[in-house]
Amino acid sequence: MTRLSKLDRLIAVLALGLMAIVAWPDISQAQQINPTAESVTEDALMEALGGDAQVQGRISIPDELASGLIKPGNSGWADTHGGPVRTANFIAVVGMLAVLVLFYLIRGRIRIDSGPSNQRIQRFGALERFGHWLMAVSFIVLALTGLNLVFGRAVILPLFGEAAFGTLSAWGKLAHNYMSFAFMLGLVMTFSLWVVHNFPDKVDANWLRHGGGLFKKGVHPPAKKFNAGQKGIFWSVTIGGAALSFTGVMLLFPELAGSEANWQLNQIIHGLVAAVLTAVIIAHIYIGSVGMEGAFDAMASGEVDLNWAKEHHSIWVEDVQGKQAQSDDGTAPRPGTQPAE
Ligand code: HEM
Repeated sequence: MTRLSKLDRLIAVLALGLMAIVAWPDISQAQQINPTAESVTEDALMEALGGDAQVQGRISIPDELASGLIKPGNSGWADTHGGPVRTANFIAVVGMLAVLVLFYLIRGRIRIDSGPSNQRIQRFGALERFGHWLMAVSFIVLALTGLNLVFGRAVILPLFGEAAFGTLSAWGKLAHNYMSFAFMLGLVMTFSLWVVHNFPDKVDANWLRHGGGLFKKGVHPPAKKFNAGQKGIFWSVTIGGAALSFTGVMLLFPELAGSEANWQLNQIIHGLVAAVLTAVIIAHIYIGSVGMEGAFDAMASGEVDLNWAKEHHSIWVEDVQGKQAQSDDGTAPRPGTQPAE
């Protein structure tokens, strides 16, 4: 074995020293942030990345935005947009429930003033009811899973623990993504079937002047198939549902939104419109079920009590009976109605 000369040893020491100097910045960084160390918090990682920088991955799909894995700016965005969306949804749910409890305490259940008759009249056909329930069931799932995204961490997590919240949120996200298509189909169906009955006319002005008879027993302003209040619900659902569908599709397929700023705008609009429509629908569900005697039948069997129909939709009843009388050659005494079973 040859022995190294003094000069060789000096060169080797200098080379090692040089290598250490060149490698020094990396070594120091690795000491500052070790992403796999247990003590490293998400905040420290974000801070180390800094500003607009992001951890970028490689993707083979056209959606460029999906390649950003960690971006510190996004957590700031979550805080900013979370505020108004959370507030609006809180007011929508808690505020509307409070209003309805108050309304129930003051007005009570709205009864059929003349009492139930022994006759039924067909109000909605099978297709109308199918469209309604498709839209209704999917909307309720969308609303609940959406509310879990906004309030789940504050309400479900402390009540039921991490495992339950995790499972619920994972399934909820899937349900939210896929049920949206059922909702859109139901929306198109009900819009096509009912739009013809929902244009405002002068009957509506009178109905509104009398508060729809909602606040006073025995007051029944005339109405066609849908009264002014229902027309309000119809257009809220149509316009709000279309806005939710459009912004929801942008959120599902971010490349369609064009830019990150557009995508974020869609996210805010989605959360705010959802709040308004949820409030409207809570009121609708109340009045269509426990709030008004006889109303639910319309969407269950499709037939309602004749006295209920006369009190709430008098012009529509005359219309249906008139048409049937004509088709029966004017001889039928109570056309459009059948004895109750
Ligand atoms: C358990 C939930 C629900 C119940 C019990 C319910 C009940 C009803 C009833 C009884 C009617 C017919 C009223 C009449 O004969 O005049 C109706 C109509 C209607 N429903 Fe629902 N509904 C529910 C959920 C929903 C949801 C979630 C939506 C929309 C997202 C919706 C949208 C509509 C619309 C647009 C109409 C026609 C306009 C109106 O009557 O207000 N419903 N619903």
